[in-house]
Amino acid sequence: MSSVYIKTYGCQMNERDSEQVAAMFLAGGYSFANSELEADVVLINTCSVREKAELKALGKMGMLCSQSVDRPWVVFGFMGCMVQSKARELFETVPRLDVVTGTHCYHRVFPLCDSLLKQRLASAVHSPLRKGAQLCEVEDLPDAHNRIRDHLPARTSCSAFVSIMQGCEMRCSYCIVPYTRGAERSRPAADILDEVRRLVDSGVKEITLLGQIVNRYGREEPVIDGRSGFVRLLEMVHEVDGLERLRFTSPHPIGFREDLVRAFSYLPKLCSHIHFPMQSGSDRILQLMRRPYKQQKYVELCEAMRVARPDLAITTDIIVGFPGETQEDYLLTKAAVEQIKFDNAFIFQYSPRRGTPAADMPDQVCLREKEARNHDLLDTVNRIAIARNRALVGTQQVILVDGPSKTNPNRLQGRTSQNKPVIIEQGIAKVGELLPVTIRECTGFTLYGAV
Ligand code: SAH
Ligand code: SF4
Ligand code: F3S
Repeated sequence: MSSVYIKTYGCQMNERDSEQVAAMFLAGGYSFANSELEADVVLINTCSVREKAELKALGKMGMLCSQSVDRPWVVFGFMGCMVQSKARELFETVPRLDVVTGTHCYHRVFPLCDSLLKQRLASAVHSPLRKGAQLCEVEDLPDAHNRIRDHLPARTSCSAFVSIMQGCEMRCSYCIVPYTRGAERSRPAADILDEVRRLVDSGVKEITLLGQIVNRYGREEPVIDGRSGFVRLLEMVHEVDGLERLRFTSPHPIGFREDLVRAFSYLPKLCSHIHFPMQSGSDRILQLMRRPYKQQKYVELCEAMRVARPDLAITTDIIVGFPGETQEDYLLTKAAVEQIKFDNAFIFQYSPRRGTPAADMPDQVCLREKEARNHDLLDTVNRIAIARNRALVGTQQVILVDGPSKTNPNRLQGRTSQNKPVIIEQGIAKVGELLPVTIRECTGFTLYGAV
């Protein structure tokens, strides 16, 4: 039996896409390789959002190729966002590469790789490696690969991502995603509901709805009784019997209206966590980033959501060292972090992306300064995050048990509604169970619970 290995970088969109490609390989009679060095087909799903992400994928592929010189039949492929941004260039960078497929043609990955592998295994002398080189980045019907999920085997996990829209048209001046993921398009609600029901029937308890700006879902639809297309979708998914938890990511302050704030007050399955990218605390920088909101508006939204759902955990994304960011601008970001008190924040050093407007802006911030701001902000973020975690000690929380703890396989791990991991003893609950626990202890980012 041939085997496949898939390594995924980047966001949840990529995770979900990889899952679908994996499903096609399984349906085609492949198994998952025990290790990347034993696989007949090696695929890396790539991210282009920062240079580091691209370098990691290139480095990994280079290493895997060099480790397989005695297995010349192995098919190597890149998929995903870096393919959209670098395309043919990848064949030059990685000479051993066979297949590259962009974000719009996941359904082509399996047939391409499979036929190439079969050809090679059939020929006594292995064909010259580059012969199979294929580039596929044609735009496909947006939901063609949404059906692949039918092939998924029995689920091993109790939570799943469901993509409700593709692409992004915001064109934030630093971001490559609009170029790698194409135009924004929403999936029909009926398809989404079908997928959710199927997942729930197969044991899924928690669904995360995915989109680059998830709250723009269905924006061409009319507002009915003050509720936008997105809020109506939340309500419909919420209705699905057997679903216990509902999340969405990522929302954007644009189009984040009162109806969505209110949803936190009347949809109990909607979890007490929102990942709400702020990017900067300086209005001047937000404007240069082409983020069409002011810092004040962002703060007001956070406050309103906390009124609607008092235990809401808010996490965010922040970019430091955007072109033109002065020390004053940076300090405004730091002040915003102090004021809002995030439960956690991902801090990114600005990384110039080819073809995006910010890459050509004057006053690029030097690496040393980016690192200093990153380091300084991380201290602040961590201090606040740990304090917020400590405040949970002694409280009752319901956790959804996910599986073995990542740090200690002899313990189990679950997540609270706020999406915080909690470690519990083995044997007191089953994976997929919702379990009320008391938080006994907190060591920084890890919480320990007891029944
Ligand atoms: N669609 C989401 C973000 C997707 S990208 C949103 O708009 O909220 C995830 C995060 O990567 C962004 O929130 C941003 O903080 C970061 N990011 C994007 N481009 C970047 C770049 N060129 N350099 C550094 N960080 C970047
Ligand atoms: Fe990128 Fe902005 Fe779109 Fe998010 S909203 S994916 S940051 S362009
Ligand atoms: Fe990266 Fe593409 Fe996601 S660039 S963040 S994998 S949409």
